[in-house]
Amino acid sequence: FEHGVLNGKRVFITAGPTREALDPVRYISNHSSGKMGYALAEAALDAGASVKLISGPVTLTPPARAECVAVESAEQMLAAALDGIDCCDLFIAAAAVADYRPVDVAEHKIKKGSEEIMELRLVKNPDIVATVAGLAEMRPYTIGFAAETRDVIDYARSKLARKGLDLIIANDVSNPDIGFNSDDNAVTLVSADAEVSLPQASKRRLARQLITQIAALYSRTDSS
Ligand code: PMT
Repeated sequence: FEHGVLNGKRVFITAGPTREALDPVRYISNHSSGKMGYALAEAALDAGASVKLISGPVTLTPPARAECVAVESAEQMLAAALDGIDCCDLFIAAAAVADYRPVDVAEHKIKKGSEEIMELRLVKNPDIVATVAGLAEMRPYTIGFAAETRDVIDYARSKLARKGLDLIIANDVSNPDIGFNSDDNAVTLVSADAEVSLPQASKRRLARQLITQIAALYSRTDSS
C-alpha cells in the first residue's frame, strides 16, 4: 500500500444502510454495517485524500480525519452526496441504499388493525451513484459496488453500463462470510476493459488493496 497515491484528491464515500421511514417508530432497511465504506474512508485518508464520508445509521466510529455527514434516508444521502460535488475527484458508493421507500410516511404510529394482510405501497428512490455518474459538468471518477447473490460478474457488468460508472466492485453476498455485516470481504473490480479479483481478506486490508487499484485506474484518466 503506497501512501500518497491520492495526495490532494477529494474523495466522497457513501457507507452503511439507508432507513426509509414508515411511521415515527418504524422503517425499512437492510443489514449493511458500514464496515466496508468506513474501511475505504480510512484507506483513502492514508493514501493522502481528503474524505467526506456520507453515512447511514451505523454503530461505527468514523475516522477522525474524515468529514462525516450522518444521514438516514436515500433522499438525504443524495442531497449530502451532491453538496460540494463539484470539488469531488472520486466518488465511491459503498452504501446499501434502499431501492424503494414507502409512498406515505404516517404522521403517527400505525395501529394494528383486524386485517391479517397489510399492504405497503413503495416508490422508487433516486439512484445516488447513477445521478453522480450522470453529471454533465465536473463529474468525478465514479465507482459503485454491486451486491449480488448469483451471476455476480454478469450483473455487475450490466450495472456498470446502466449506471454509467467508471468502475464497479462486484460483491458476492450469497456467502455469509463476506459481504453484508461480516468482517471480511472478497471482490472483483470490473471496468470496461479490465477485471481484477481480490481474494477474501479483512475489509480493512481489502480496502487498502482497493484504493491502490482505484488510484492506478483513476490516474490513467486524470489530466490534472
Ligand atoms: O456495510 P457492510 O456490512 O460492510 O457491507 C458492505 C456491502 C456488502 C454493503 C458493500 O460491499 C456493498 O456491496 N455495497 C453496495 C450494496 C448495494 O446496495 O448494492 P446494489 O447492487 O443494490 O447497488 C449498486 C450500486 O448502486 C451501489 O454502489 C449502491 O451504493 C448504489 N445505489 C443503489 C441504489 C440507489 N438508490 N442509489 C445508489 O447509489
